[in-house]
Order: sequence, then structure tokens, then C-alpha cells
Amino acid sequence: MTQASAPGKVILLGEHAAVYGRPALAAPVQAVRAHAEVVRLDENHVRVEAPDIGLDSLLKDLSESHPLAKAIRLAMQEAHASGGLRVRVTSDIPPASGLGSSAAVSVAILRAISAHFEHELVADRVAQMAFEVEKLQHGDPSGIDNTVVAFEIPVLFVKGEEPRPVGVTGRFQFLIGDTGEPSPTKALVTMLRGRWTGDTEFVDALFDSIGELTDQAAASIGQGRMGDLGPLMNHNQTLLETLGVSSPSLERLVLAAREAGAAGAKLSGGGGGGVMIALVDDSTLEAVDTALHEAGAVRTIHTELGQ
Ligand code: MEV
Repeated sequence: MTQASAPGKVILLGEHAAVYGRPALAAPVQAVRAHAEVVRLDENHVRVEAPDIGLDSLLKDLSESHPLAKAIRLAMQEAHASGGLRVRVTSDIPPASGLGSSAAVSVAILRAISAHFEHELVADRVAQMAFEVEKLQHGDPSGIDNTVVAFEIPVLFVKGEEPRPVGVTGRFQFLIGDTGEPSPTKALVTMLRGRWTGDTEFVDALFDSIGELTDQAAASIGQGRMGDLGPLMNHNQTLLETLGVSSPSLERLVLAAREAGAAGAKLSGGGGGGVMIALVDDSTLEAVDTALHEAGAVRTIHTELGQ
């Protein structure tokens, strides 16, 4: 049996603007992971099991556009593999929450199948292949999710460019709060495409501002200027609200986190539901965690950059 896993991801700043070539800052979330397990079978077919979504099927019965099937086919092609296999996929990353669950599932599958056939895959190739699957699910993705999940490091991401690793000075702690409502990323990316087409100048100006905040945030993290990061996140949230990708439940959690002492808070990922992220430290962590739960978070996840 061969097993592999991949982490979730969180966007610190820059979502949506990333689709339009502006920089975005994202980091892996090691506390939640997707797992894939590959076992050789005597029969000559590939069985796909994903108990979390009630899937137990033969690969040949899954359509070309099924994301799990696509990841398995890509991995088998790349490894020149054939024959009997059972691929079992599980994940503790909340799906459709903005935490990169689909990219993590793809990366876990790609890693497990390649390892099973002793086919070496560099992170860059894993990211490229996972991007092919992301395109099936998200319409017009920037590539940020598959990149962060495949490289497992904090990155400053610009669409179409090599990901730039983000240096971290000091320790930055975050609490992720999950509204429990699904984030309709694809619909919101499509909605913004419409707004951008209708009023390119206005929407581009908002994306430019988000890009500037993101660059400043990367510099703050690199130089250990913790005090600067919170206000940059808050400003990014205001711009995301103007773009129309926030939601009442996200804003409830964002406000609760700030009132409980978070240095900054904003939605993270596609928005419209899903998760938000708050910047905390040792002195505010507990109060923010309690406030998020009281404001309706169905779960919180602690994650950090640096040490
Ligand atoms: C999704 O995690 C982030 C978005 O910017 C979409 C993308 O970049 O593909 C909303």
C-alpha cells in the first residue's frame, strides 16, 4: 500500500485579484489534510473510493470531467502505469470552504499514484497537473490553490509566473473561522468577470489596490512587522466587500474577531461563505477563538507562519 497526503491552504491577501494577474499571498494549512491510499489489485481495473462523498466506483464508469477520475488518469498516464488498483481518498479539509480542498485531494492522489509506481514528480509538475483538475471545477482559476498545496510553503503568487517563496521573520499566528456555509467560488469568479467587463476601470482600480496591499503584506511578513499586517488585512476586507464577494456570516465573524482583539480579519478564498482569517497572538488567541464560536463559526483552525 502507498499513502500520500497534501495540506489545505489559506489566502492571506489577494483573492479574486489573483485571477486578474495581481499578486496574492497564501500559505499551506498543515492542520487539515487530504489523504490518498493506493493498493494493487489482482483484477485489471481501477476502483475509486471516496467515502466522504459516498463514491465507490470503477474508474472507467466515471466521466472525463470527474475531478477524482481526472487526477487518477493524469497520474497514471504520467507514471506510464496500468492495471489493477484501488485508490481511496479521504479528507479532513472542509469542502467548498476556501481552504483548497479540491487542490489538496488532487495533489494527494497525484503523489500517492506516482509514489506507488516509483515515478518521481517534482512539486512544479504536481502543481501543473493539479491545475488541470482545478480548471474542471473552478472555471477560470488563477492557479494559486494547486501551487501552494503542491509546494507546501507560503508564496507570493502571480498568475503565470514561478511562485515566489515568502520569507518570514518572527511568528505570525492566525485563526481561521468557518461559517459552515459553502463558498460558491466559481459563481463569484464569474460574477466578478461580469462586473469587470461592465466597468473595467473601476474594478481594475480595486484589484490594483488589493495588489498593493498584498505586496505590502509580504514585505511586513518578511521584515517581521506584525503591527502592519492587521490593518492591511482589514483594508483588503473592505475592498472585497466593495467587490461584492463578502457575506453577512463572514462579516459577523470578521467583526467578532476584531472586537475580541484580532489585529486584523478578512474573508479568505472565494468568499460568499466559507472561511475568514484573523491575525492573532498569544494574548488574543483564546478570546478570538471564543468570539468566533459565539458568532457562529462551526469550526476554527489555528495556523501559523514562521516560528
Ligand atoms: C480561490 O481560492 C481564490 C480565488 O482568487 C480564485 C482563484 O484565484 O482561482 C477566489
